Amino acid sequence: MNQILKVENLTVKIGNKIVLENINLSVNKGEIVAILGPNGGGKTTLIRTCLGFIKPYKGYVELLGTTPKKAVKTGKVGYLPQKSATPKNFPFSALDVVLLGLINKKLPKEKKIEIAKKYISFVGMSGFEDYPFSQLSGGQQQRISIARLLVAEPEIIFLDEPATGVDVVAQEGFYQFLRRLKEEKNITILMVSHDIGVVGTFVDKVAGLNKKLHYYGEPKGFFQKHILEELYGAEVKLLIHSPECISCEYFYVDTPTSKKDI
Ligand SMILES: Nc1ncnc2c1ncn2[C@@H]1O[C@H](COP(=O)(O)OP(=O)(O)OP(=O)(O)O)[C@@H](O)[C@H]1O
Ligand SMILES: [Mg+2]
Repeated sequence: MNQILKVENLTVKIGNKIVLENINLSVNKGEIVAILGPNGGGKTTLIRTCLGFIKPYKGYVELLGTTPKKAVKTGKVGYLPQKSATPKNFPFSALDVVLLGLINKKLPKEKKIEIAKKYISFVGMSGFEDYPFSQLSGGQQQRISIARLLVAEPEIIFLDEPATGVDVVAQEGFYQFLRRLKEEKNITILMVSHDIGVVGTFVDKVAGLNKKLHYYGEPKGFFQKHILEELYGAEVKLLIHSPECISCEYFYVDTPTSKKDI
């Protein structure tokens, strides 16, 4: 197996607070991993530590066979941060946003535009090139933002809640799109999500994170009452809607934020 990310005995402190405790996981090339867990559980912190933005208190992260900082400098690592609202007066077109992904490449402008248009087409957004980015829908903005990552031809991308702002029907298409990325480009994807039901059918592995890594493995093993209750710290109801439809089999309820606990 071709390991692309290794997290070993990782503990992270922010101020005096332990935010991640003794995390161990490894990701192989071409896998899609969903990081699930309650608000404040440390999902964003884990991603930012994997990218070298946060220093471990204990343990280490190895990304693309080297330190996160060195890996990020190669340009082979893409990162889509947790979304904040795009200001209405954001002056860039969809094409401009995608071109930002090529800012460090020494290529003629026409070549950059050609590459950007190719990836805009790949994410299903042809025809929107000149559209103001701020006027696109949430899901369309996410697709363009992913095209911005893809123009740099990364080996691994970290997506922090990429389906936020994408409606439930469109979400399924969005996750299928991520699978196409994996299948056609062999890109490794680590994605934070809150959609525990939908994600189960589209990812290879699930990381259940709430300060500690409560679960790491195939999705089917994750959907057990005791694991979900331990992770979310709440009464969990499993509802079976239809045996054929795994994606709508599981729901959780009453999941309080864990912010006060850690
Ligand atoms: N810069 C910071 N200063 C102080 N505390 C922080 C900082 N960043 C994160 N934390 C704390 O670390 C914990 C984990 O936060 P993190 O943002 O990683 O959670 P998350 O799982 O991504 O949550 P959400 O689902 O709400 O995005 C929280 O208790 C948070 O308050
Ligand atoms: Mg977060």
